[in-house]
Amino acid sequence: CRPQDLAGLKVVVSAGPTREYLDPVRFISNPSSGKMGFAVAAEARARGAAVTLVRGPVALPDPAGTEVIRIETALELRDAVLAASESADLVVMTAAVADYRAAAPAGEKQAKVAGDVTVHLTPNPDILAELGRRKGRRILVGFAMETHAGVERAAAKAQRKNADFILLNYPTQSGTAFGGDENEVTLVRVDGSFAAWPRMAKREVARRLLDEALRLHRVVQEN
Ligand code: C5P
Repeated sequence: CRPQDLAGLKVVVSAGPTREYLDPVRFISNPSSGKMGFAVAAEARARGAAVTLVRGPVALPDPAGTEVIRIETALELRDAVLAASESADLVVMTAAVADYRAAAPAGEKQAKVAGDVTVHLTPNPDILAELGRRKGRRILVGFAMETHAGVERAAAKAQRKNADFILLNYPTQSGTAFGGDENEVTLVRVDGSFAAWPRMAKREVARRLLDEALRLHRVVQEN
């Protein structure tokens, strides 16, 4: 039985990949399993929060007791997260948002042609940065995957997006990040301070993430 230390708080979590359709049957996506975000949603719920989980297409059952919104595209994710976040105390962006979408997705299945084809991609909106621009007293948490200079890049990212902290992971560590049940992350705060956590279950990462977010929430409330 967990302490109900998040009772009275509203938590919004995004999880999984987005799909960016080129035509009705083809899309660009990534291998995000959604496990990290689902763990955050379940842990927040177990600690008494009212949880909204905005989930991309992943093969996981909806966590009990949470409001679940299913999305496919980054634009759908954006609409759902921005609407749900208006009344939220804490927003955790674990979703692996595709950076680009087709500039003009075809309305019908495109026939195969001989030779190369060119697809015109346009950038997706940065949802975490949009949340940062309307932050209020909300605590904002992001994730980032970097291959090098991770702490510096994550701190710069937190500043640019106006997030309180970012959990950094590296795609090169086997069995962690995409798809695994464990994760090895470094907590990087917007002030550049950081703490490298040992490899642990994603649920334990979720527990520590929420501890840090709750600590910051209380600081904001006191000021
Ligand atoms: O810039 P980068 O993709 O590395 O940032 C990762 C963080 O920003 C994650 O928390 C991710 O959910 C969020 N993000 C977003 N909208 C995007 C791209 C990333 O909210 N278009």
